[in-house]
Amino acid sequence: MNRAAPTPKANMGKPEPRIDGRLKVTGEARYGSDFPLNNAAYAFLITSPIAKGRITGMDLSEANAVPGVLKIFTHADVAGLHKVPFSTGGAGSIGSWQDMGPEIGHDGQIVGMVVADAFEAAREAAYLAKLSYAEEMPSAGFGAPGVTKEDASKANERAKNLPQAGDADAAIEAAEVKLDAEYGTPTQHHNAIELFTTTCAWKDGELTVYEPSQFVYGLKASLAQKLGIAPEKVHVVSPFVGGAFGSKAQFSPRTGFTALAARVLNRPVKLVATRDQGFTIQTYRAETRHRIRMGAERGGKITGFSHEGWEVTSRPDPYVVAGVEDSARLYGYGAVKTHVTLVHADRNTPGFMRSPPVVPYIYALESAMDELAEKLGMDPVELRRVNDSMVDATGKRWSSRSLMQCYDEAARAFGWSKRKAQPGSMRDGDWLIGWGCATAVYPTHVGTATARVRLLASGQVRVQTAAHDLGTGAYTVIGQMAAERLGVPLSQVKVELGDSMLPPAVVAGGSTTTASVCSAVLKACDAIRAKLGGAPAASNDTPSAAPAAYRRFTEGHAVAGDGNLETLFNRLGVGAIEEYAEYLPPGAKPDAIQKLYAGKPYLGGGSHGEKLMYALGAEFVEVRVHAQTREIRVPRIVGAFAAGHIMNTRTARSQYMGAMIWGISSALHEATEIDERNARYVNDNLADYLVPVNADIDQLEVILVPEEDRFVNPAGIKGIGELGNVGTAAAVANAVYHATGIRVRQLPIRLEKLLA
Ligand code: MOS
Repeated sequence: MNRAAPTPKANMGKPEPRIDGRLKVTGEARYGSDFPLNNAAYAFLITSPIAKGRITGMDLSEANAVPGVLKIFTHADVAGLHKVPFSTGGAGSIGSWQDMGPEIGHDGQIVGMVVADAFEAAREAAYLAKLSYAEEMPSAGFGAPGVTKEDASKANERAKNLPQAGDADAAIEAAEVKLDAEYGTPTQHHNAIELFTTTCAWKDGELTVYEPSQFVYGLKASLAQKLGIAPEKVHVVSPFVGGAFGSKAQFSPRTGFTALAARVLNRPVKLVATRDQGFTIQTYRAETRHRIRMGAERGGKITGFSHEGWEVTSRPDPYVVAGVEDSARLYGYGAVKTHVTLVHADRNTPGFMRSPPVVPYIYALESAMDELAEKLGMDPVELRRVNDSMVDATGKRWSSRSLMQCYDEAARAFGWSKRKAQPGSMRDGDWLIGWGCATAVYPTHVGTATARVRLLASGQVRVQTAAHDLGTGAYTVIGQMAAERLGVPLSQVKVELGDSMLPPAVVAGGSTTTASVCSAVLKACDAIRAKLGGAPAASNDTPSAAPAAYRRFTEGHAVAGDGNLETLFNRLGVGAIEEYAEYLPPGAKPDAIQKLYAGKPYLGGGSHGEKLMYALGAEFVEVRVHAQTREIRVPRIVGAFAAGHIMNTRTARSQYMGAMIWGISSALHEATEIDERNARYVNDNLADYLVPVNADIDQLEVILVPEEDRFVNPAGIKGIGELGNVGTAAAVANAVYHATGIRVRQLPIRLEKLLA
């Protein structure tokens, strides 16, 4: 029985296997493009071969002659579609280029869509469509002539109040030890295994959309806006998502085109964009540059910190990364100065990509910390300890902070005390050994969510909420919350997610799902308990430590098969109890749930509330660099993470492992190469876009550090999906420096950079 098994630590849930695992391994799980539809037609996109200019002519005669072609949509056909404003949160578009031309704003912009009876016919016709262009010289990115610069704090609400405290310039100037260093991170693309797909089917003026989505209510609202119809007419179905990482969080123009085509042709239309098209029709991680200046006392105390960032975005849209929000709060610096500049280039608009603000900004910070430690002649862990603080420079306090516990546990497991400080001093034959470490940090976001839970007299439970499982284990942990709260085995809980007919839940972004959705499920379950006569739970009640009255109730009654639950239901004269609950995180306004229904989620926490809410970790990496060839290997990595109550130690571990592997990827492998002459992505396929394979990853250890924090939300949950890949790149870079004495300040670290 579920509750009988003692959990090893009070705040660690059971390592339940994924309840959707069987569906996935047997191929029964239906992803967006898997839904069979009668009489479907197939779409193929035509994309622009130029990055800037204008379509001057179109010859579609050859394309139209391909057997099976139904219609080729171009900018002449999309006039009836409305504009969905660019947004960096909730409903809204990933970018402003939405019209198939005739203006061209970036390479690979959608300029047409062929719809045919067969995919092959649509593809062939797309290649035969002849569009002519008047081409202008594009600006590809940093340093290109023609880019425009903009102060991020003026361009985007999200960068409006970046942290500033005291006189950082003066503190740095006056400091005994100073550091001034620049770092850079490249463009990266998500490359989720599931491609960007959209299937649209109309029936009696109502539209059903099958599309992998991180926010079905946002997609519904935006698509309705695009089509100029009521949101009630749009139904979004997205029960499974084959990886998203931020790339499927918002409305993208392809969806509007597919919906239009299905309406015009009066047939369901299915679009599966190709891998290379995914590089330009969706978002990506923005390229960044950083300048960090620090001043410290001889003993290591940092007295002044300045972090300036530069980020590439598209010509029209002010997408911001702005991780100074977090880098400038991570340690107890005396004074803080931050600034972010947007650089507008002729590129598609970047967007969220796993741990978007912190991945580049913490890479820069944690590299700088390592450089400062060396200048001070200090152990890098000790430098973090000296600057560990429960209050940031602006005076905000942390709700909980287990950073040094993470460092201590990971250091012990790694064997850090055996490290020789001198770079190049640890060697094994031809291999130079380097050990490095860095901090992982991610804001704990808590968002609006609603859920409906039904308990039957048989003990069967159904949970309904339009949350999303991106492969993370959301089905399982949401089921676990209901099982624990209602005292039934997980096997009796059925969870329904990813459908805009269900009660809305926050966007599956910002690692917010577990904390937000479980809080709503917890509330609904408590309402059921109350109806059955169980004591309502106190707000600080942990799922595994229900009050005695309720524990008696669950032990006596709420287990399927013992009959007592039925007796209880009979007494109440009902066959089932169903409760709908709304979770409003602290800071959300009373109308936040109404807004959620309209596709605008509230996402609080992190640095935005009364206290600083963050999950933290420490990662230790060993690299081996070959003395002659400079081949770089990562034989082991240890990460220790503290993120409040862990619902499921198995899925948590899996998130951390995947994240650290991605961190290694970001350090050594990944970069989208850009041809500066035509602002075009060169390696837009999985053969040329490097990611680690099994041979690149060896020992990987995850340590879950217990942490109790009831301030963040009633269940004490902090998000973990994005935490693990923050800091990894710096840990690798620091280890490479320790091995070779070469400090690489521009990712990725490839062997040619070590041949100096
Ligand atoms: Mo995540 S990049 O916040 O979807």
